[in-house]
Amino acid sequence: MIPRFDASEFNGITPEMRDAFERDGVLVLDGLVSAEMCALLQNRMNEMVKGFDAREHRSVFSSTSEAHAQDQYFLESGHEIRFFMEEEAFGADGQLTKPLHLALNKVGHAMHDLDETFSQFARQDRFRLICRGLGQKKPLPLQSMYIFKQPHIGGEVVCHQDATYLRTEPESCLGLWVAIEDATTENGCLWGIPGGHKTGGIREAFRRAQDGDGTYTERLDDTPFEEDKKVPLEAPKGTVLVFGGKFPHMSSANRSDKSRHAYTLHVIDGSAHYPADNWLRRPPRLPLKAL
Ligand code: FE2
Repeated sequence: MIPRFDASEFNGITPEMRDAFERDGVLVLDGLVSAEMCALLQNRMNEMVKGFDAREHRSVFSSTSEAHAQDQYFLESGHEIRFFMEEEAFGADGQLTKPLHLALNKVGHAMHDLDETFSQFARQDRFRLICRGLGQKKPLPLQSMYIFKQPHIGGEVVCHQDATYLRTEPESCLGLWVAIEDATTENGCLWGIPGGHKTGGIREAFRRAQDGDGTYTERLDDTPFEEDKKVPLEAPKGTVLVFGGKFPHMSSANRSDKSRHAYTLHVIDGSAHYPADNWLRRPPRLPLKAL
């Protein structure tokens, strides 16, 4: 059983939290974010979606195909706010079969620097306390996403480690996964492999090609993920799951009639080296800012 911590009064990582994080690879902090804040983020995202013209950009995000990874719209999204569609939101004629707010897979990846509401949320003291309490010397928010996991069509995310996509030397990535709505086994909550961060290394590296125009995935370690040991990480609204870059996690498709909105913030340690062949590149005009 993965322990859960009541974090409604959170003011720092306790030794028990640190032990759980080191043993399991994931920390479950219930009540860290208020219901009011979840509603505020959801409303702000609604406004952003209303301002987006889906006819201009139709990039699909899929964890099972890599078509998106060659797409300039995706490759430049590390310093922008961009909108990615669900694979199953399109009909055979290539037209959306759902209204936009029910067709989006996610929005990313620089809301924490470009949008006032999401920036204030990402740069809160509690997140800094988490990152520092779990060993980061200079927490640097690198990437954020608003994930919709739409009713009926919210796609599967296959088992992976975030350190595949956000690489530092040494490995230093922390993912803060915030339940904006209740996440259950019915609507596609996260699953993880307790202790899986200690079994095998980082399996794959997702790299930007030398010419900068595409990406490729390099296999680093053939140790299989022990998926038979996966457990659901159900998260009521306001819960924050914290996991390191090596923690194997996944989520199944959402076939229920409830959405499962979540916000993720990935933070690296500014004292680690950030290789130039990471997919996510910031132009000099938008440097990363410490938490
Ligand atoms: Fe992930």
